[in-house]
Amino acid sequence: MRRGLTVGVCVVLLIACGIGCLSWLREYRETHEPSKLAFAEYCAHCHGHALQGGKLGPPLIGVELQNGDSTAALIRAIGGGYPERGMPSFGKTLPPELVKGLALYVSEQRQGFGLTSESWKSRIPHGPQQARDHAFRVEVVAELTSRPYSIAPLPDGRILVSEIVRGLSLVDTQGNQGPLIADTPRVWDPLVSSKNSYLMMGVVLDVALHPNYEENGWIYLSHTHRCHFDCGFMIPKSMVQVVRGRIREGRWVDQEIIWSVDPGLYTLVPDNVSAGRLAFDHDGHVYVSIGGKATYDWVQWLDKPTGKIHRVREDGGLPADNPFQPEEEISTAHTVWSYGHRTPQGLATHPVTGEIWGTEMGPRGGDEVNLIVRGGNYGWPMFTHGLDYDGEPVTIGQDLGLKLQLEDTIQPVVDFTPAPAISSFEFYRGAAFPAWENDLIVGSLRARTLYRLRIQDGERVDEEKLLTGLARIRDVEIGADGFVYLLLEHGELGTIVRLVPSDARG
Ligand code: HEC
Repeated sequence: MRRGLTVGVCVVLLIACGIGCLSWLREYRETHEPSKLAFAEYCAHCHGHALQGGKLGPPLIGVELQNGDSTAALIRAIGGGYPERGMPSFGKTLPPELVKGLALYVSEQRQGFGLTSESWKSRIPHGPQQARDHAFRVEVVAELTSRPYSIAPLPDGRILVSEIVRGLSLVDTQGNQGPLIADTPRVWDPLVSSKNSYLMMGVVLDVALHPNYEENGWIYLSHTHRCHFDCGFMIPKSMVQVVRGRIREGRWVDQEIIWSVDPGLYTLVPDNVSAGRLAFDHDGHVYVSIGGKATYDWVQWLDKPTGKIHRVREDGGLPADNPFQPEEEISTAHTVWSYGHRTPQGLATHPVTGEIWGTEMGPRGGDEVNLIVRGGNYGWPMFTHGLDYDGEPVTIGQDLGLKLQLEDTIQPVVDFTPAPAISSFEFYRGAAFPAWENDLIVGSLRARTLYRLRIQDGERVDEEKLLTGLARIRDVEIGADGFVYLLLEHGELGTIVRLVPSDARG
């Protein structure tokens, strides 16, 4: 018995070391990516290591660039150079991927990417902010106890919050976060869970209200369901699952499983934590997005859950009109609505048409806003507009023998380059900011920017940065008051802020 315990402790320690090692490797890879190294080698002695400029070259950040700063303009400047004015041409000496990588690198630095050290609080702007059509101020609503993933403002002004390792709680109208709501799915395992690593464990993801919440009280929750010996696994594995329940007297009650997969399809890869967003159409269906970043080899296979947007009836039943009707019982294809997604971090319903829209992070240079269509293939990992993080064109997928043509895939409505790490979004509706009606309010992680996009006839016709340099924006929601609620994450903590019209009484 005691020996069993010792062995168990050793295994856990080994696993913990493995997790530490993995995150160190990831960090090493990010800081040693080829474009950054190439900048240090070929550019820094003239433009400065921080792009701040030097004796031999002008600054590349904090100033307008003479020749423009679109990716194409930067590629032109770097590739062609201005030899007569002291800027060498790199088009002949460096491969084109590296020239593009350098252009993206310069572009990212220009947008204030990579800032990590400043205290995030000093970034919350004071006083009125002037957007093009509305003036607003940013109010802190609540400070949260741990790293959040999602918010759902209730009609009465309270806000449901999901924190990835703690679960669900309610923030009251005074901004106080109450205790955890008891009996929500328990996902965190103190033995293997750690603050920064979600490998082999569960996390709570999206929380969303049923469109008729006021009548039926249903709250939908996605979380990774972690299974261990119960599923016959020596090492715990997990997969996203969607449940619904109600909150009564501080407890989660009436729980029903709405979407889940066979444990045979559970994985060790923490991939699925990068999505799990929920949305409802106008015809009684609920959609859930499942990421497929690391398990990319599953993304194009309909019988595997990852890299998909799944659709079921809001009571969990199977809709008769789903696009794929496989013969086998145990398959996820029955619920697949669209596939070939990477990390669909945002999912929202167009308030007028009821269409489902999604945002996803592609590799560098390829963040996307997509209209999600029935049976659509969004191409990952075969087609994206980006370079992979190592500066190479995305080639994974070719080794899978997939013969996909560009024409077979759905192209994004909006392609963000360089990728600001688009996260979640919502369509604006409400009385507080009437000029924004039906526009997309889009958050981003790395760029710390809040965007407003207007899409008409399948095209971006307007884009505005409402806030820049704020914090990692994990979720965006519109309250019953019409205010825009943002869920910010900083380190292992979180804050809810809201955009309130300047002339509104606070
Ligand atoms: C020998 C010094 C030198 C090196 C090395 C050098 N540059 Fe330059 N660079 C310059 C100078 C000088 C200019 C301004 C040219 C001009 O006046 O039009 C410039 C201009 C630029 C511009 C256009 C700026 C604008 O305002 O439009 C970009 C972009 C740029 N460099 C990027 C790079 C990158 C990336 C590298 C490395 C691959 C690099 N440079 C290497 C000296 C250098």
